[in-house]
Amino acid sequence: MSPQTETVTVPLGERQYTVRIGPGVASGIADRLASLNASQAVVLADSTVAALHSQALLGMLEDVPTTLLTFPAGETNKTLDTYRSLMDQLLSLSPALDRRSVIVTLGGGVTGDMGGFLAATALRGIPFIQCATSLLAAVDASVGGKTGVDTAAGKNLVGAFHQPAGVFVDTDFLATLPAEELDNGLAECVKHGVIRNGSLLGFIDDNAAAIRAMDSAVLTDLIARNVAIKAAVVVSDEREAGVRAHLNFGHTIGHALETFFGYDTLSHGQAVSLGMVAANAIAVSRGLFPAEQADRVKALLTTLDLPARIAGIDAAAILDLMQHDKKTLAGQVRMILPVDLGAVVIVDDITPDDIALALEAIKEG
Ligand SMILES: NC(=O)c1ccc[n+]([C@@H]2O[C@H](COP(=O)([O-])OP(=O)(O)OC[C@H]3O[C@@H](n4cnc5c(N)ncnc54)[C@H](O)[C@@H]3O)[C@@H](O)[C@H]2O)c1
Ligand SMILES: [Zn+2]
Repeated sequence: MSPQTETVTVPLGERQYTVRIGPGVASGIADRLASLNASQAVVLADSTVAALHSQALLGMLEDVPTTLLTFPAGETNKTLDTYRSLMDQLLSLSPALDRRSVIVTLGGGVTGDMGGFLAATALRGIPFIQCATSLLAAVDASVGGKTGVDTAAGKNLVGAFHQPAGVFVDTDFLATLPAEELDNGLAECVKHGVIRNGSLLGFIDDNAAAIRAMDSAVLTDLIARNVAIKAAVVVSDEREAGVRAHLNFGHTIGHALETFFGYDTLSHGQAVSLGMVAANAIAVSRGLFPAEQADRVKALLTTLDLPARIAGIDAAAILDLMQHDKKTLAGQVRMILPVDLGAVVIVDDITPDDIALALEAIKEG
């Protein structure tokens, strides 16, 4: 394999798979289909990514019968209605879907979650391969086996754990990703650094301009470092009983901000950025985390054009949202707080005063 590519193994016993990263790695999907003895490949892409990259991918898969299925791009389409329509299409394919049919998701986290859930449930489970085309999917959504869809009651409440048979992050496909979509992935990269590896923060800082410019070699390195962190967390806690909760750093307040401001106003990456700054403020106030380290994280987020402050915060309304979150146990807010750059703890006794202090820290004006 070319020296510009990286491979990270996710060692989950029988469900072990590799994540290949770099320019041109998608050509390896054909070999993976062959090793799975695939009877056919069903490529799933949203409308945007299908228009940009499906022809290139289909051209690499000429050894097996291949079908392209598409659905309209966007989180609002990650629904049971889309799932049902795609499932109906899968079950009326000719040749018919069988246990050796393989779904290949080509796209961001929405496509990966949707295609993974289709694969988890069609015929009670068929293999799937992820070809991740957004930075968020590359560093976060494609690793860990969580699949599913959103419902009126909330995001990701219907789904299944189903590990992919392989993940391919072809940086040639990432090249067309809009800048604001890059932000969503970068916020998760900073999160990974804070929870597990302080030196990743230095790497991001040193390479911020090259990352922004979508330099393929730097992106490959960045993604490999992040996949290694996410994989290590998932492997130690595949079904989310303990330390996998560390991945929620920045997300407790972040999710409340997303709901309060609306998904159209605040992107996920911006919400997580603000959520991390807010969580850090609580950690500093409790004497858990040095103020200089919190300042370093804030400076890095600012370098990446991610927000550290926002106008229009209504603290009472946001606290209310947090206490009524379905993941909140008996009104008790649990948060992940840093104790060092690269280490976090789970704190269960977060008080309304802590949240008020955290929201004050990110309040503009
Ligand atoms: N399964 C998990 O563990 C996990 C983890 C984190 C997030 N998620 C899920 O991931 C989703 C968010 O992922 P996302 O940000 O990738 O969303 P997404 O899949 O909607 O992609 C974002 C946008 O970028 C476009 N896009 C993707 N790749 C592109 C490319 N190469 N060129 C041009 N446009 C491109 C898409 O068409 C879409 O409009 C959420 O639904 C979230 O719940 C899942
Ligand atoms: Zn996230």
